[in-house]
Amino acid sequence: MADGPLTIGQLGQSLDGRIATTGGDSYYVTGEANRTHLHRLRALVDAVVVGAGTVLHDDPQLTVRACAGDNPMRIVIDSRGQLTADHRLFQDRQAPTLVYRGANVDVPMGAAEVAALDAGPDGYDPAALLADLHARGLHHVLIEGGGVTVSRFLAAELLDRLHICVAPLIIGSGRAAVSLPEIARLSEARRPPMRTFAMSPDTLFDCDLRG
Ligand SMILES: NC(=O)c1ccc[n+]([C@@H]2O[C@H](COP(=O)([O-])OP(=O)(O)OC[C@H]3O[C@@H](n4cnc5c(N)ncnc54)[C@H](OP(=O)(O)O)[C@@H]3O)[C@@H](O)[C@H]2O)c1
Repeated sequence: MADGPLTIGQLGQSLDGRIATTGGDSYYVTGEANRTHLHRLRALVDAVVVGAGTVLHDDPQLTVRACAGDNPMRIVIDSRGQLTADHRLFQDRQAPTLVYRGANVDVPMGAAEVAALDAGPDGYDPAALLADLHARGLHHVLIEGGGVTVSRFLAAELLDRLHICVAPLIIGSGRAAVSLPEIARLSEARRPPMRTFAMSPDTLFDCDLRG
């Protein structure tokens, strides 16, 4: 793990670039080896960040269970204040949990701490959110999903690394993995240095975005 701050995005996607069905079913896109890799990433970082859509659809625990290691702090971005306190990670006390909310900041979220998030018509500022995590001593950060959240941090050029694990299935519709503002020419597309790792039956692309 790097000495300085490090922000890693991760997504498990199908061959056609989907992370879930339209209705939000994502169990499971990638296989067991990638799940173990994801838990190792969680064990290495200080904080794991997810968007409200992921909590709504997955009710995730975001803890380290498939390998040894400490649970990271769990961070939920709920900029429109849509989530309720009954989700597992707000109740289970398995790890410290922080919810960023742009509205109804006073509403208690179970055992989780609530922090204010400035959100205008274009949404929240991911750079401000990351700076706040750093100020809290959380320097190694995993942006775990979903596609909207990882894409926001990618578009803002805040990711140092992006782990995309491609699974050999074709969903054909559903929620997109990475989705960025349109470009006119392929020459404007990013082609980051990367390494690939067999993670049978999937393939992990480890992209270095620092350049
Ligand atoms: N394969 C993977 O690696 C992976 C990883 C994580 C999640 N997932 C799947 O990805 C999906 C969620 O990802 P996402 O990109 O849609 O969202 P996300 O990044 O988890 O959440 C971000 C957005 O979700 C919005 N949101 C609120 N309610 C929603 C709803 N009912 N449905 C969808 N989005 C809602 C949030 O709004 P505000 O914050 O502005 O209120 C925010 O803009 C889930 O189906 C989850 O199972 C897959």
